[in-house]
Amino acid sequence: MLFTIQVNNKKIKAEKGETILSALNRNGIIIPTLCRMKEFTPTGACRMCVVEVEGRDRLVTACSQPVEEWMKIKTHSPRVITARKTIVELLLSNHPDDCLYCDKNLNCELQRLSEELNIRERRMRAKKIRPRLDQSSPAIVRELSKCILCGRCVRVCEEIITSTSLDFLNKGSQTHVGPAMDRDFNFSSCIHCGQCVLVCPTGALHEKHNINEVQEYLNNPELLKVIQYSPLVASGIAEELGIKYNREFDRILNSILRKIGFEKIFTTGTGTDICITEVTAQLKEEIERKSKTPLYISACPAWVKYAEQFMPEILPLLSTVKSPQQITGILIKTLVAEQADVRPEKIYSVSATPCMAMKFEARRDGMMRKGISDVDSVMTVRELARLIRLYGIDVTNIEPEPVDEPMSGLTSAAALAEVSGGLAEAVIRSLWFSINNNEADRQLFKKLRSGGSFREASFRIGETEISVAVVDGLIGLEKLKNSQASGKKYDLVEVMTCQGGCVNGAGLPYSSVKDEKKSRAKMIYHADETDALNLPCKSPVLLNLYDKLIKENKEIGDRKIFFTHFEKRNVLL
Ligand code: SF4
Ligand code: SF4
Ligand code: FES
Repeated sequence: MLFTIQVNNKKIKAEKGETILSALNRNGIIIPTLCRMKEFTPTGACRMCVVEVEGRDRLVTACSQPVEEWMKIKTHSPRVITARKTIVELLLSNHPDDCLYCDKNLNCELQRLSEELNIRERRMRAKKIRPRLDQSSPAIVRELSKCILCGRCVRVCEEIITSTSLDFLNKGSQTHVGPAMDRDFNFSSCIHCGQCVLVCPTGALHEKHNINEVQEYLNNPELLKVIQYSPLVASGIAEELGIKYNREFDRILNSILRKIGFEKIFTTGTGTDICITEVTAQLKEEIERKSKTPLYISACPAWVKYAEQFMPEILPLLSTVKSPQQITGILIKTLVAEQADVRPEKIYSVSATPCMAMKFEARRDGMMRKGISDVDSVMTVRELARLIRLYGIDVTNIEPEPVDEPMSGLTSAAALAEVSGGLAEAVIRSLWFSINNNEADRQLFKKLRSGGSFREASFRIGETEISVAVVDGLIGLEKLKNSQASGKKYDLVEVMTCQGGCVNGAGLPYSSVKDEKKSRAKMIYHADETDALNLPCKSPVLLNLYDKLIKENKEIGDRKIFFTHFEKRNVLL
């Protein structure tokens, strides 16, 4: 039901049941918020969104207060502005003031609010919070002195990621946010997804940087410097550098990377095509064995850690195929080493990715051989953009170049794996092609592509009915478990930690990661509609690798190297 309310002496339409904030935003009136996150129940904790309502003594929080028909609201009265300003001044009173050195400089909401509220002097001084820097995690740094206790990280970790690795600890002035028993992050149940980093309004949480080590190794003349990058990296870099993305930019990125000092450049998408091929073979085997249990895809490293900690019972069902990043890393340290005639330890192998958990994955047991890692450093898209800026390259005036052989191409199926449901779809399409010798109609996959945190679909391939489940964000696991408890059986289950898939990865540009996830997915689907090279089995790059290069290489000829194992992990809760 629609009714009229008065805002700043003007009439606007509001809807029964919505909050004041929602009515204001729908009518183009913007007020600041801090603790609020879209799609979460409001807590009213920070009071940044206060407005004046005629007849009420106290200011009310617009994010949590439902709108009522009689309301006359003032959103920017002197009283309201003073209240908001005081909140920010109090937050700043014990803040470290090191904006210039802060990871979130120019992306910080506290900085933006101080600017918007025209705060030009420090009126309040409180005792600075004792600096505490927790760098123990392989992926995420915590700077406690920058935390403004908004609680966003706690909520996202508990309500969306369901890992509950962060909570409010202690009371009163000692209150802070941290893992159980106030231990360092590496002792916690954190799965390194980085979704808390994305929602943190300040520099209290950020990725662990590898820029310095990359720079150092780039200057080492004794090493062969190699980089692989995931399909979403080029568009993310374009976004970070303020350039309109088109697919030609992928080739421009190759030239940029060469100018920086990388001597060999590969696409991680080739590794994804191998991953799809190997998972398809595993699924085919399971189906032929008439196995009654599902095969869980293991390409998302945060999901794998989650399963090791919280669902050890499914570990025997988790696909043992390594992730695209690690497979590409293996090919770099074997095939590329052989071709370039250098020892693997003389190759410095970097991966650029939208995923933060891959920093952790590269250091897992089983991802090293004879003490040599397949991937030496992992950089987020944001870090790579910083590195590019550091080298002062004019990206608008540069000739495009191809990636290097032999990992020189990817199919649209590999790009699809960056979207939730995409890897499962690519596996089923590959299986369909191998059995029917024709392509499955894309319409069949509609149910896997969108619609909530849990999706399912069945496919008849030859004589067999194959059931597939897609868990889009770990919050969907509950629905999967309920469905399985009610007797439903699946043959293939894809789980992605970040909602929407890697298109919502925590290593993508801060500015747009949430809003852009739909358009990123759309771009990938569109490419898949038009690309002729839409399955790994059609890819000349892959055929060359499987039929020749991998087969003929002594170290990896039996392909055992593409597989790993997973073990139960004990965590403090
Ligand atoms: S990285 Fe993910 S699991 Fe770890 S604390 Fe942040 S949201 Fe939770
Ligand atoms: S770490 Fe960041 S998101 Fe978490 S409570 Fe502190 S400021 Fe908020
Ligand atoms: S944004 Fe409304 S109370 Fe924090």
